[in-house]
Amino acid sequence: MQDKFKSTAADTKPWGGRFSEATDAFVEAFTASVEFDQRLAPYDIAGSIAHATMLAKVDVLTEDERDIIIKGLKSIEEEIKLGQFNWSISLEDVHMNIEARLTDSIGITGKKLHTGRSRNDQVATDIRLFLREEIDQISAEINRLQEGLLVLAEREADTIMPGFTHLQTAQPVTFGHHLLAWFEMLSRDYERLQDCRKRVNIMPLGAAALAGTTYPIDREYTAKLLGFDGVCQNSLDAVSDRDFAIEFTASCSLIMTHLSRFSEELVLWASAQFDFVDLPDRFCTGSSIMPQKKNPDVPELVRGKMGRVVGHLMSLITLMKSQPLAYNKDNQEDKEPIFDTIDTVKNCLRAYADMVPAIEPKRDSMKEAAKRGFSTATDLADYLVKKGVAFRDSHEIVGKAVRFGLDSGKDLSEMSLQELQNFSSTIQQDVFDVLTLEGSVAARDHLGGTAPKQVRAAVIRSREKLKAR
Ligand code: ARG
Repeated sequence: MQDKFKSTAADTKPWGGRFSEATDAFVEAFTASVEFDQRLAPYDIAGSIAHATMLAKVDVLTEDERDIIIKGLKSIEEEIKLGQFNWSISLEDVHMNIEARLTDSIGITGKKLHTGRSRNDQVATDIRLFLREEIDQISAEINRLQEGLLVLAEREADTIMPGFTHLQTAQPVTFGHHLLAWFEMLSRDYERLQDCRKRVNIMPLGAAALAGTTYPIDREYTAKLLGFDGVCQNSLDAVSDRDFAIEFTASCSLIMTHLSRFSEELVLWASAQFDFVDLPDRFCTGSSIMPQKKNPDVPELVRGKMGRVVGHLMSLITLMKSQPLAYNKDNQEDKEPIFDTIDTVKNCLRAYADMVPAIEPKRDSMKEAAKRGFSTATDLADYLVKKGVAFRDSHEIVGKAVRFGLDSGKDLSEMSLQELQNFSSTIQQDVFDVLTLEGSVAARDHLGGTAPKQVRAAVIRSREKLKAR
C-alpha cells in the first residue's frame, strides 16, 4: 500500500458510532476503494453540489448552508486537481474522503451534506455521470476513425484487390469498398453506445440507502441540474442496477471485436506474403535482432487488448449474477473493469484514428494478387448465363476452364478465345470485357455493391450520416 493511503490519527470513521473496536488494518485496506475510485471525484463533487442545491430548494438546508457547502466543495475540487488532496485509506472511498475533508474545512455545516442521501445512491450516480462523459468521448473517437476511413475509401474507390471468403481468393473488390465495410461496423458501434447512453443517463439519487428518504426531496430538480434525462423509478433497483455498465462493456467488447478484425487484416496485409499495405513507420517497431523487421505492433496490440475488454464484460455480468436486492458491497468491484474498459477502448480507437489515414495501399501488389486465384470465374459464369446457359451448367463449364488454367498456368483472361471456346461455344470475343478486374468490379453496380461508382455514392451517404450526428 502506498504511503499516501496510510491512516492518520485524525481519521475517524463516519460510521464509527456503533463500533467498539477499530477496523483491522488489513480489512481496512482490503475493503477500501479510494485507490481507484478517486477517479470519480469530479462527478462526486458535481453530484454533491446538485444535491445541496436541491436540499436548499426544499428548505432542508438554508441558502447560507448551501453556499458554504458549495464553496467548500469547489475548493476541494481545486485541491484534487492540483494533486494537493490527501487521500486517506481509512476513509475508505472517494465519497467519505471528500465529505470528511469538507467538514474539516467548513466545519459542522459540512456534516449536513449527506442529509437524505446514502453512498449507495451517491456512487451509482457518480458512475453514471462519469460513464456518460466517457461515452461521449469514445463516440467522438469512433467518429474520428470513421472520418479517416471515408477519406481513404474515397481515394481508393478504384483500387482493386482480391476479396476473400475462407481467406481464399473469391472475387475482385475495390479497396474502398473493403474500407467501407469497416465503416459500417463502426456505425453500429456508435449507435449501440448512443442507445446505451439513454439508460446510463438516468439518475439514482434520492433512492438513498435503498428505500428512499423521509425528507421532501425533489429528484426531478436534482436530475435537471445534473443533466440527467430522467430518474430511476424504483429505489431498490436504483442502488443495485449495474445493467448499464454491463451494456456499456458489451458495446465496448463489440468495438474491440471489430478493431481486432481490422487488426488481423492489417497484420496479414503488411506481411511480405500479402504485401497489400505499408503501415507508417511511426506506428511500427523494429526487432532487436533481425535488422530487416518492421513489425505491425499497433494492430497486434489492439488485437490482443480485445481479450481484456471481454474479460471485463465477464467480470461485470458475473458480478451481478444472483445478487439479491438491494446494494451489496460486491458492487464496489464494478469500477476497475469499467475504468480499464474505457482506457483500453479509448486508446485503441485513438491509435486507429491516428493510423488509418496514413495507411499506404500497395495498389500494384493488390491488383496482382487479384489476378491470381481465378477471381473472375464467377464473372465468366454470369456471362454464360446472360447468353442463355443455365447457371449450374455454366458453373460446370467454368470449373473445367479453371482446371485447365491450373494445369497450364494461365488466368482466364490470359486464355485465347479458341481455348475458352473448347469449354463452351457460346463464348465470344466480348468475354474479355468481363474477364478484366475492372469490368468485374464495375459490373457490381447496385446499392451495397463493390463498383467504384457505388463506393463513391456510399462515401457521400456516409458523410451525411456523420454530419447528422
Ligand atoms: N465504495 C462503495 C462502492 O464503490 C460505495 C458505496 C458503499 N456503500 C456502503 N453501504 N458500504 O460501491
